[in-house]
Amino acid sequence: MKFVTAKARFAAVAVAMVMGGYAATLQAEPIGDAAAGEAKAGLCAGCHGADGNSEDATYPRLAGQYAGYIVKQIKDFQKGHRTNNETMTGMAAMVASDEDAKDIGSYFAKQKMKGALTKPTKENIAAGEKLFREGNAKSGVYGCINCHGESGKGKSASVSAFPVIGGQHRDYLIKQLTEFRDGARANDPAGMMSGVAKNLTDKEIQSVAEYLSSQI
Ligand code: HEC
Ligand code: HEC
Repeated sequence: MKFVTAKARFAAVAVAMVMGGYAATLQAEPIGDAAAGEAKAGLCAGCHGADGNSEDATYPRLAGQYAGYIVKQIKDFQKGHRTNNETMTGMAAMVASDEDAKDIGSYFAKQKMKGALTKPTKENIAAGEKLFREGNAKSGVYGCINCHGESGKGKSASVSAFPVIGGQHRDYLIKQLTEFRDGARANDPAGMMSGVAKNLTDKEIQSVAEYLSSQI
């Protein structure tokens, strides 16, 4: 089969590497104290919503996201590895300790996603789901499901390197995919996500974002 290309093989190797790396530090959620995190998350509520369900797509939903992924992003903003948003860089600087990041992450991880901001078209849902499941053999895009799990709900909290993307706001997803493609966001381990995004067309980004945003 032609599609077992170097790219697809690279992706599979990258997944194995990350899973292997994380297996050494396997941590079941919660990784922090969610009750303590609730008060600390007050700092985040203005943009991300008190329960992590933001009402403006500029601000990603944090409800239901893995605590480990939230902690990684906070650290990436703090260390300058993720540089695609100055507002959030400023906010991350206000998270004083690892313990605070873990507590806040654990609090948001426990919240449920609710309410979609946009209504996708049937056509885009169908095209987006196909890309999500099968990828695009012609351009060498590896199916998203292999890393992000069924409906984009992630694989498991112990492999929080692969974030929950099902149910995320459409316009936030479009921004991230475009930025991974263009290189404005490059904090993905082993270049796994940029490797996929660089072969996506605008149309594919739109349809997969519409599909994913409907998976609440
Ligand atoms: C003033 C608004 C604002 C506040 C307050 C804020 N954030 Fe953010 N945050 C943002 C924006 C905007 C983004 C999206 C960045 C982008 O476009 O890539 C973001 C992104 C994030 C992400 C990345 C999510 C993902 O899916 O990758 C995390 C994690 C996060 N914020 C955590 C927090 C935490 C924790 C707090 C409180 C300590 C907080 N934020 C407070 C504006 C804010
Ligand atoms: C080889 C594994 C892999 C594949 C395949 C993959 N991703 Fe990812 N993706 C990742 C990893 C790892 C991250 C986390 C990057 C980080 O740590 O900041 C990520 C992050 C993302 C994010 C950012 C999430 C956020 O909250 O900011 C989006 C959106 C995303 N992926 C969408 C997709 C879509 C759509 C596809 C299919 C077209 C896809 N991914 C295929 C590994 C993968």
